[in-house]
Amino acid sequence: MQLDTLENAYIIVEDGVILEVGMGSRAHLETHSAWAKLGGGSMTSPEIEWIDLNGAEVMPGLVDSHTHIVFAAPRHEEFALRIQGATYEEIAAAGGGILNSAKKLRETTEDQLFEDASKRVQIMMEWGTTTLEIKSGYGLSVESELKMLRVIKRLKQTFPIHIKATFLGAHAFPIEFKQRREDYVDLILRDMLPAVVADELADHIDVFCDEGFFTPEQTEQILMKAQQYGLPAKIHGNELGLTGGVQVGVKMNAWSVDHLEHCSEVEMELFKHSNGHTIPVALPGTSYFLGIPYAPTRKMIDYGLPVALATDFNPGSSPVASLQTVSALACTQMKLMPQEVFHAVTCNAARALRMENEVGCLAAGMSADFLVMKSKDAVKTIPYYLGQNQVQQTYCRGNCVAN
Ligand code: NIG
Ligand code: FE
Repeated sequence: MQLDTLENAYIIVEDGVILEVGMGSRAHLETHSAWAKLGGGSMTSPEIEWIDLNGAEVMPGLVDSHTHIVFAAPRHEEFALRIQGATYEEIAAAGGGILNSAKKLRETTEDQLFEDASKRVQIMMEWGTTTLEIKSGYGLSVESELKMLRVIKRLKQTFPIHIKATFLGAHAFPIEFKQRREDYVDLILRDMLPAVVADELADHIDVFCDEGFFTPEQTEQILMKAQQYGLPAKIHGNELGLTGGVQVGVKMNAWSVDHLEHCSEVEMELFKHSNGHTIPVALPGTSYFLGIPYAPTRKMIDYGLPVALATDFNPGSSPVASLQTVSALACTQMKLMPQEVFHAVTCNAARALRMENEVGCLAAGMSADFLVMKSKDAVKTIPYYLGQNQVQQTYCRGNCVAN
């Protein structure tokens, strides 16, 4: 994919949307551009603001298509256990993991959850995220799932960036359903989904389809019902093995299958056959933090797949807030080139949310989401300077939202 760089560039924004991206002197801008036609040439109209970025480099806002940032507490104790050798699966099987977060979430007020998640959104904006997907999935009961989704709705209403909500009631089986898993699937189908839809709390649905979690059959059952409600699917799949997540995802027209730490040529071929309908989303923060394999994204890209990257920011498998950190991991651990990573956290990530006509690139008609960078050549410096924020200012819908 091409990466165009303009020298001496300008962006004209009206009502939060890019009207024109161009190149040229201020004199050119004042006489030939859409800005001049708007009356900008006179420099007297109070509605028109001129912002001089002093030659700084600008790039599109980053798109994080997979996060779980509404949670009650970090899971430091599990981190320590894993350092000592316990695996993610062992911790989950012993009632830790997602169930640990679900228990804590139930004991936490909606206001507190909102306050804590707000701090995380603020950090993400400072690190350049202007589009953010957030999942439920630490509720695992009708009441708590709705609680989480209401917090996400409040975040949407409060923050100036683009936020999308995903219902992930099928994230794990609560302990009381351990011996009767079908009953929990029924609860999702009969009670949770209708309530979520009735309150218009979700833009998509997600299922954790993996070893020890939801089977492909259960996943299909849930996605089928969601389809009847018009909720598009996203899938957590193939984190723990080659467990059929891609097969069911492509079959059910999922917008993305995420994780893919295990992904053979069979799965790659399925993605290819989806013709860009189902986007493979890799989460290198999770591989780093859990010490599991990295998704074979080098192979996927060589295979011609439009790979996206996301943080998966959550307290158990990826306490990583920054797509810049993810970019660094993708270069050093997955052997992606900086330009490939740039596309994976902008336009390809937008495709995983079906927002490619709105966000993820700087062109006329797109939302005016852009980052003013601290130095030149940001596409290369972002993955190079691990842990050092390269963003000076974050603009979303034409307004500065963080600096
Ligand atoms: O994407 N794998 C499933 N869900 C999350 C982890 C959730 C957790 O451990 O709290 C993930 O990695
Ligand atoms: Fe996740």
